[in-house]
Amino acid sequence: MNYDNIEVQKAVPDASSMIETFRAIGYNLETAVADIIDNSISADAKNIYIERIWHGGTSIITIRDDGHGMNGEELINAMRPGAQNPLAERAETDLGRFGLGLKTASFSQCRKLTVLSKRNGYAPIFWTWDLDYVAQTNEWNLIKWIPDEYKHALDNQTSGTIVIWTDLDRVLPLSTSEANDKAKRKFSNSLERVRQHIAMTFHRFMEDKIVNIYWCGNIIEPWNPFFSSPDENFTDTPAPQEGISGGGTIKGFVLPHKSRVSEYAYKAGEGMNGYPAQQGFYVYRGKRLLLAGDWLGIFRKEEHYKLVRIQIDLPNTLDTNWQIDIKKSKATPPANCRDQIEQYAKKIRSVGEDVFRHRGKILKYRAGQDFQPLWLDKTKNGKWSFVVNREHLLIKSIKEMAKKEPDHAIDTLLKFIEESIPTKAIYVKETHEETKDSDKQEIQKEPFSDMDMNLIRQMLRQMFDNQINNGKTPEQSKSLLKTIEPFNNYEELIEEL
Ligand SMILES: Nc1ncnc2c1ncn2[C@@H]1O[C@H](COP(=O)(O)OP(=O)(O)OP(=O)(O)O)[C@@H](O)[C@H]1O
Ligand SMILES: [Mg+2]
Repeated sequence: MNYDNIEVQKAVPDASSMIETFRAIGYNLETAVADIIDNSISADAKNIYIERIWHGGTSIITIRDDGHGMNGEELINAMRPGAQNPLAERAETDLGRFGLGLKTASFSQCRKLTVLSKRNGYAPIFWTWDLDYVAQTNEWNLIKWIPDEYKHALDNQTSGTIVIWTDLDRVLPLSTSEANDKAKRKFSNSLERVRQHIAMTFHRFMEDKIVNIYWCGNIIEPWNPFFSSPDENFTDTPAPQEGISGGGTIKGFVLPHKSRVSEYAYKAGEGMNGYPAQQGFYVYRGKRLLLAGDWLGIFRKEEHYKLVRIQIDLPNTLDTNWQIDIKKSKATPPANCRDQIEQYAKKIRSVGEDVFRHRGKILKYRAGQDFQPLWLDKTKNGKWSFVVNREHLLIKSIKEMAKKEPDHAIDTLLKFIEESIPTKAIYVKETHEETKDSDKQEIQKEPFSDMDMNLIRQMLRQMFDNQINNGKTPEQSKSLLKTIEPFNNYEELIEEL
């Protein structure tokens, strides 16, 4: 299109409403802090310090790094919304994309964002975005303000940056008193989640010693979703890494069954939200975790896949294809590799399901002899059911017992059956079938659909005769039988009596 002779009219965004809109991108405290840490890592920081200072409603959160820092001009540019064009090519190690994170992440949590920075050879420089001031003036103006206690925060460093969040109105009400213990505990708890999120999001940087991240002076230990500890072989890797068409790699892991590792290791592998929630894809962009346990809309989370975790590694050149969002917490596989990812994941998921379900098998290998299940999984004409294993030693001895103490034998049998109904296996089968292709689908057998009619007739006759012997009329006995499960389903047989 040729724009030469077209009339134009400026339509400048309204500063006060636009900057408020930045607050609504949907960060939480964890993702917001992670976004600030992205910038520190991109600036080659070796150490990053997260601190919180409790002052009730005027509490402060700071994130300081020893990266290359910024000079005056660079800092003003950094504070500009849209500091860089999202289409610009970025260095391989740059975790940024939109030129927005510093501002959007900060405003999602606080009303005042101060950045103090120092480049080697330059004087330290600071500026503040104050949402109240922007609202009052309706102008995109930074103010020359910094909380007093931070004026000298970088004096002992040759370079670096500190991001200071004050007026944390999204974390706690500004009117909170310093003596409010409940609010203080809540503040600590939300920051504990931040610590866990950081331990997970940046675990590869920490493991590779690229950066140390400190939490109130203590180093944060990395949390690796595919955990392997020196004394316990924590993960089974059932499939080799595969290249994703269009770029990136995929690698599946199945964590071992609870019965194969120590309680400590199992607990450590659980993660922030527990095994069932942590299953799924783990999408990394330049080693930084974007998504931790998400099936990307391809599958649903289900109990029996809770040990499955699949690592996807992407370079930042694929940001557009994978629709990476500003918060760096979403990704969508492009159409051209979705099928491949789905097929790969299906293989890992089926191994994962086996490990989850067949703990019994592992016991069998351990004991070195045949394992005797009390319940057998049976399929007939495409319909599955569970039946009691008549060959089981327990059933045989109960039959023996019945010869001498019939009442006790029946009670014992019922007790064992009640206690051992394979509810979990039934649940797994039921939910698993829903996700199978319809031509392979097997359905659960209807209760009593295989029942021998003669057995029902025989039982009905016996119960009917007992009632008559106890003085009931035939009509009374019949109507009683119609209320007894499962005979209520066989009214015609009752009428025949
Ligand atoms: N801790 C820091 N040290 C040095 N430079 C920084 C730091 N934080 C931000 N910057 C500079 O400010 C710029 C803007 O940061 P911002 O987070 O807003 O956007 P981005 O990182 O470029 O992209 P994204 O929106 O994807 O995060 C960065 O590109 C970087 O040049
Ligand atoms: Mg950024």
